[in-house]
Amino acid sequence: MTSFSNFVVPLVSFSLFIIFLFKWFLNPASTARKRLPPSPPKLPVIGNLHQLSLYPHRALQALSKRYGPLMMLHLGSVPTLVVSSADAALEIMKTNDLIFANRPKVTIPDKLVYGSKDIAFAPYGEHWRQVRSICVLHLLSNKRVQSFRYIREEETDLLIQKIRQSSSSSTSVTNLSNLLVSLTNDTISRVALGRKYSEGEAQGSTKFELMLKEIMELSGVFNAGDFIPWLKWISKVNGFDARADKVIKSFDEFLSGVVEDHRNRNQGKTDLDDSNNHADLVDLLLEIQRENKSSFALDDETIKAVIFDMFAAGTDTTSTVLEWTLAELLKHPKTMEKLQNEVRQVAGNKSEITEDDLEKMSYLKAVMKESLRLHPPIPLLVPRESTQDSKVMGYDIAVGTRVIVNSWAIARDPMMWENPNEFNPERFFNTGIDFKGFNFEFIPFGAGRRGCPGIIFAIGVDELALAKLVHKFNFVTEKDLDMTEAPGSTIHKKSPLLVTSGGALEAPPVATIVGGFASQRLQTTVAKSVIAIADLLAAIAKVVVHDCIEQQFDGEIGVGGNRWRNRCWTLAWPPLVDRKQRKVDTLRVCLIGCMKKWWKMKIFSM
Ligand code: HEM
Repeated sequence: MTSFSNFVVPLVSFSLFIIFLFKWFLNPASTARKRLPPSPPKLPVIGNLHQLSLYPHRALQALSKRYGPLMMLHLGSVPTLVVSSADAALEIMKTNDLIFANRPKVTIPDKLVYGSKDIAFAPYGEHWRQVRSICVLHLLSNKRVQSFRYIREEETDLLIQKIRQSSSSSTSVTNLSNLLVSLTNDTISRVALGRKYSEGEAQGSTKFELMLKEIMELSGVFNAGDFIPWLKWISKVNGFDARADKVIKSFDEFLSGVVEDHRNRNQGKTDLDDSNNHADLVDLLLEIQRENKSSFALDDETIKAVIFDMFAAGTDTTSTVLEWTLAELLKHPKTMEKLQNEVRQVAGNKSEITEDDLEKMSYLKAVMKESLRLHPPIPLLVPRESTQDSKVMGYDIAVGTRVIVNSWAIARDPMMWENPNEFNPERFFNTGIDFKGFNFEFIPFGAGRRGCPGIIFAIGVDELALAKLVHKFNFVTEKDLDMTEAPGSTIHKKSPLLVTSGGALEAPPVATIVGGFASQRLQTTVAKSVIAIADLLAAIAKVVVHDCIEQQFDGEIGVGGNRWRNRCWTLAWPPLVDRKQRKVDTLRVCLIGCMKKWWKMKIFSM
């Protein structure tokens, strides 16, 4: 017996060893022979999940400083490649774009969009190609976005009105964050659904907005089951599934109602080829469904999933950009002043900014870029997944690897950007760097096949709204404005942006009227005298008007017409100007009106 085991045990061990070696040499999947990207040490079961923190873009940036621009993490059981440099991003989203064009399946978004029948979460393939091209052609193309210009102009005008209403006195506080969310929701509602769904509801967050907010929140919540499959039960126990099911049901009912309304209403035909028609996205999708023009079945679930995408991908992101941009401008008064000077100079005597004016506002465009660089709304883009084995920067990446591109870290990479954490729009002067997905050091909208198709749409709304806001208002906010980020997949300011709209150009103030008159009709010398008089009046007025007026005088004041305008603007501080005089046509009437008012207020009696 002993001699038998003495013989068998070494034989079995030897055979196992040979089999192991054989497999090791022949198995192409053998990791030992592969060159894998560096990885931080991981814990059993959770892998590197514990290292993500509430702000994964920041945590991943810190890790990449140690492990390099391509690192492999294990998020639970999901191998995840983290990309943190422009070169590495270019390899993923340009060189190997096709291999990394898939999206991983994630529980909540998958449920929300009827089993990934939308664009953003659809796996790479024919369905995705078809729905994406329908949306781009009929909603998001340059031509189409131009045709919705009137909606952008009306909605941004409405924003200005709402701010005026909410800031009826110099000290009333306006929640700008809420109003910006309404602006983008309403704009997308009108373009995609043909009407607003917040109308008729009380001011503040409407039912529709609350539903969207809940969806965005749920999409950003960490769901353990997505990374550790045997922990799927947790979301049932902690009520997460129930919460998701509830909002999914309400949103589905809402979308079904919208589709039915359109179907009933739309017996007539929609001309798909006419980019000037004002048919909304649902009309167009139903028309394609009816005509069966597409080579794939456009069922109702796909229509609802696509509408869902427009809201989920387009509203929160677009309003967040404005929120951060205004917050940065309020933190940097000199930049705000430069921007206001540009905008007011371009506007000249016109009371309203139009989209045509935006082309002349190069500083505004630089401000927008700088804001997107420091605060990309989706800092980690939308995850991708590889569909075959590949090599990236000399490392072997296996099929099925999830890919996270840290666009936030890339846009703050000191190798690419000087003083990367500073807000400095001037850095974009004479660089040609743009966010359209060709400059990989700056990719707030992603790049390649899966890059954002809504860039023109979003920038159209944001630039116009920003120009109008800084044209009309001198916002004032708390002294140490809190710039903390809120956790989530879209990064907002943690606390809402609260402002008082000091110095609102409520009436066509004396400043604008005299300014226009002076610069257009009179010679420079005369204009200078007017400026001198205005300065004198401002110096007197300054003593008596509200505190925040003082702040205008703290900052450096621009030159020429703008300098002058700043001064007179103060003179026209709303409490001093009769609101009913908003419509006054002539310089004389307005001036006399104001003089009387100032006289009554004893401004000149000092
Ligand atoms: C400032 C506003 C916006 C930002 C920062 C933004 C950002 C992004 C990012 C980072 C992605 C993922 C790109 C990638 O994986 O490479 C994306 C995808 C997408 N965005 Fe946007 N987006 C914005 C506005 C919009 C708007 C207004 C719409 C439509 C109305 C839209 C529709 C989409 C869609 C449908 C996708 C999925 C594309 C695909 O997977 O093929 N986005 N967006």
